[in-house]
Amino acid sequence: MTYKLPPLPYDRGALEPYIDARTMAVHHDKHHQAYITNLNKALENYPELQSLSIWQLISDLGAVPEDIRTAVRNHGGGHANHSMFWKSLHYSAGGEPDGKLARGIDDSFGSFADFKEGFTKAAMTLFGSGWAWLCLDSEGKLHIITTPNQDNPIYQGYMPLLGLDVWEHAYYLKYENRRAEYVDGWWNIVNWGYVSSNYAAANIELSARDIAAWAEDAWSKITSAFSGTSGE
Ligand SMILES: [Fe+2]
Repeated sequence: MTYKLPPLPYDRGALEPYIDARTMAVHHDKHHQAYITNLNKALENYPELQSLSIWQLISDLGAVPEDIRTAVRNHGGGHANHSMFWKSLHYSAGGEPDGKLARGIDDSFGSFADFKEGFTKAAMTLFGSGWAWLCLDSEGKLHIITTPNQDNPIYQGYMPLLGLDVWEHAYYLKYENRRAEYVDGWWNIVNWGYVSSNYAAANIELSARDIAAWAEDAWSKITSAFSGTSGE
């Protein structure tokens, strides 16, 4: 099995005027496809890795053979990041998140306005090509981070919830060098429903880890109590 380009979840022109149809076509059909083509090429001699999900593959780069590790880091990251990116956008979106995500953002950043300002600043000050992210740490706290190139937050131990592609290929055809206008437009098409579902899934995973740690601790107490009494 090899990795395949996921279809866009809307028409190429659906995100106009914020992202134009030509940019979407080149970005999705050419750039995202190139990451997948290069990833598949890197995995040609490693059929056992081809059956992994893209998240399984990139979440443990140390387990990837050294001769293809950089290729998997870049092209596997590129595939994962862009797959998230298409889903994180929608033409009937924008506004602000609600529910638990809104409360999480308030707890971590003070308010949605503060978060928006911090995220925009991160996207604007990122030098060169990369991504700005909203992500979750292993304690359940939200963070704004940036990653260079096609690195995914998972390489730094964070769970990505929302990513903004600030490579020039994401905006240059329409906005030329005006990254600020692209970022400003992007806020109008953020699919907060998708980000909320990522937040819920990440929290379930964290809770499951807590339960697993609790169960392990409880089990060791039970077994030590048992071994303490069994000799009597
Ligand atoms: Fe991109």
